[in-house]
Amino acid sequence: MAGTSNKKEELRIGLIGCGFMGRAHSNAFNRVANFFDQPLVPRLVAVCSRNEQQTQQFADTWGYESIETDWRALVDRNDIDAVDICVPNHLHCEIATAAAAAGKMVLCEKPLAMNSQEGETMCRAVEEAGVANMVWYNYRRVPAVMLASQLIQEGKLGRVFHYRANFLQDWTISQDVPQGGAALWRLDAAEAGSGVTGDLLAHCIDTALWLNSSIQNVTAMTETFVKQRLHQSTGELAPVKIDDACAFLCRFENGSLGVFESTRYARGHKALYTLEINGEHASLRWDLHDLHRLEYFSHDDEGRLRGWRSIHVTDHDGSQPYMDKWWVPGLQIGYEHTFVHQVADFIDGLATGEPAAPTFRDALATQRVCDAVLESAESGSWINVLQ
Ligand SMILES: NC(=O)c1ccc[n+]([C@@H]2O[C@H](COP(=O)([O-])OP(=O)(O)OC[C@H]3O[C@@H](n4cnc5c(N)ncnc54)[C@H](O)[C@@H]3O)[C@@H](O)[C@H]2O)c1
Repeated sequence: MAGTSNKKEELRIGLIGCGFMGRAHSNAFNRVANFFDQPLVPRLVAVCSRNEQQTQQFADTWGYESIETDWRALVDRNDIDAVDICVPNHLHCEIATAAAAAGKMVLCEKPLAMNSQEGETMCRAVEEAGVANMVWYNYRRVPAVMLASQLIQEGKLGRVFHYRANFLQDWTISQDVPQGGAALWRLDAAEAGSGVTGDLLAHCIDTALWLNSSIQNVTAMTETFVKQRLHQSTGELAPVKIDDACAFLCRFENGSLGVFESTRYARGHKALYTLEINGEHASLRWDLHDLHRLEYFSHDDEGRLRGWRSIHVTDHDGSQPYMDKWWVPGLQIGYEHTFVHQVADFIDGLATGEPAAPTFRDALATQRVCDAVLESAESGSWINVLQ
């Protein structure tokens, strides 16, 4: 890590992938030092995607100093400390293992991998190389969700009975939406691994494992409503092999019951991620469309005042996570800030030696649940989740 004029050290970033997440991460790397006073400051050294002109345009927009069009060239550079993987899922394992072998820290988008076998390979690669690693399950860093975690840790809910989560979208209802290629790689099992299970439920599972406890076993059903779509690489109709919708039940290690649902066929819903947890003393509810509010019901409240409170998470006294770093009480932040928080936590982890979660190993637990869900949908049986 090279020194800088303001005495802070640099975390030299090499980003791979210039799409949705490439933008979200670049914004976070650029913003973090403006709001978090930390010993390391990200420097955007290089960005890589396959099209030279688009990559240069991206570099100019976000402030990257140089470009590559082959990810291997980026991984091999000796002026980069951390490789950030923002490409479709089928590339995560190969890039992460190469980056770890080259001694780089590795930040990887979710889901960790196409399946648990790949995920295990990735964990071994970063652990054997001894490099810092993290997976971008960014919803943990929504202040309201972090507050939920704190309340649960403090025992406010008591024994937990139920955990339920949904992630609903509607963008693939038309059978004219093709599969494969830019952004639509999500519909192509060869690049995505799975459909809503790895794309959307993985977020719900990561949050659940973190907030509640590990998942012991699952029973699931999936459906592919549109069986054939034009494939953009061949121009021909091809079978659709991803799950368009998935619902599963599970048992958590703490004895609670889980109900999860995800689909891209819920007309009217764009990114409705909701979760609700019911405990002995209290319940919590959160909704991505209103991400700055945490709803809370406490049975300990005086009877005549008992009811759901809607907590606007913006206090600056340090009692509500992350908010003292931003504006003034009452003013909320948004989606992009979750990535800023994740970078800040990663840098904190480097400074303290306490790695920011989820690490690759943490994210492998989510991958194992996804695998069990897909296996159960295939077999029609309850499946134990490998721990
Ligand atoms: N954390 C989240 O909430 C969240 C949200 C969206 C996507 N994701 C994850 O982020 C990853 C990327 O998704 P996205 O929505 O940004 O995709 P995208 O389609 O918007 O962008 C993908 C980028 O990867 C590049 N790319 C593809 N193949 C490449 C190669 N061989 N070499 C170099 N670059 C290559 C493409 O050119 C494009 O710039 C996926 O793993 C996805 O699951 C996470």
